[in-house]
Amino acid sequence: MARQPVVYLHLTSLSESRNSPDRMQAKITKRGSEVSLRETFFQLGTLCDKFEHYLPLYEKWFGKFVNRAPRILEVGVQFGGSAEMWYKYFGAETEIVGIDIAPRSAGTSFLKVIQGDQGSTAFWDDIARTYGEGYFDIIIDDGSHDNVHQIVTLQKTYGLLRDGGVYWCEDVHTSYYKNVRVQGGGLRNPESFIEFSKQIIDVINEKHTKFAIGVGKTPAGPHVDPQLLSLFRKVQGVHFYDSIVVLEKGEPLKFNRINSAPNMAYNRIDNPQAEEFTLD
Ligand SMILES: C[S@@+](CC[C@H](N)C(=O)[O-])C[C@H]1O[C@@H](n2cnc3c(N)ncnc32)[C@H](O)[C@@H]1O
Repeated sequence: MARQPVVYLHLTSLSESRNSPDRMQAKITKRGSEVSLRETFFQLGTLCDKFEHYLPLYEKWFGKFVNRAPRILEVGVQFGGSAEMWYKYFGAETEIVGIDIAPRSAGTSFLKVIQGDQGSTAFWDDIARTYGEGYFDIIIDDGSHDNVHQIVTLQKTYGLLRDGGVYWCEDVHTSYYKNVRVQGGGLRNPESFIEFSKQIIDVINEKHTKFAIGVGKTPAGPHVDPQLLSLFRKVQGVHFYDSIVVLEKGEPLKFNRINSAPNMAYNRIDNPQAEEFTLD
């Protein structure tokens, strides 16, 4: 989809604002990154509720998109507080598509709100038809926090993220909530989002299930599920924090052995090429 020009209006349509639209507009005219995200957060005109340690982690993972006109897909709009925060943080050309099952915030010049259920695969198929592969720079799941929904959302939207993009799922402490509030929770419950995400570690390291470096043998044991391999073919890294999972999208990092002594050659079997991993 072609990038649409952004027209700057003010935020009169955000509901439950503590501030007047004029005051909010005055703040939003600041360029992204002129103030820290923490400062931005405490100056929001719209209610936004976060855990404190999220703020520096947002900056760590999203900082590279400041003033780069990022396209953001955010599940969970609520009052529009985080949308206001992203707009102020990333700068004037930020484009946000917000998904909510019951939006209490209307759209603005930078926020398009789409009503839908993140647990519905048919809904995500519609979104994929509208935006297409690789449209978004950042995807944030701050919706129902239900494990089943978080997994469906990751499965159905990862393709919408461009290479170099960041997938962020927050409040994943619900992975540990057994029979409380959400489906799929409980320590080591295979249906939890955390357990699902842990499998991405195996995807990243999959070749080592097929070839033992320096030994030249096929390790015994199972290999990674082909569906997971296909879904997460483009994951460079997966990062776990308290209540947050972050995926870095991109071609897998090259597994090339190097050494500091140019005249010393390894036996080729110590440093196999990717096409040599053909054992299934
Ligand atoms: C934590 S709030 C989002 C807060 C917002 N991101 C912010 O920081 O200001 C969660 C939102 O997810 C929405 N939600 C709940 N279940 C959902 C579902 N199945 N699909 C989409 N949105 C859902 C709720 O209506 C609510 O507005």
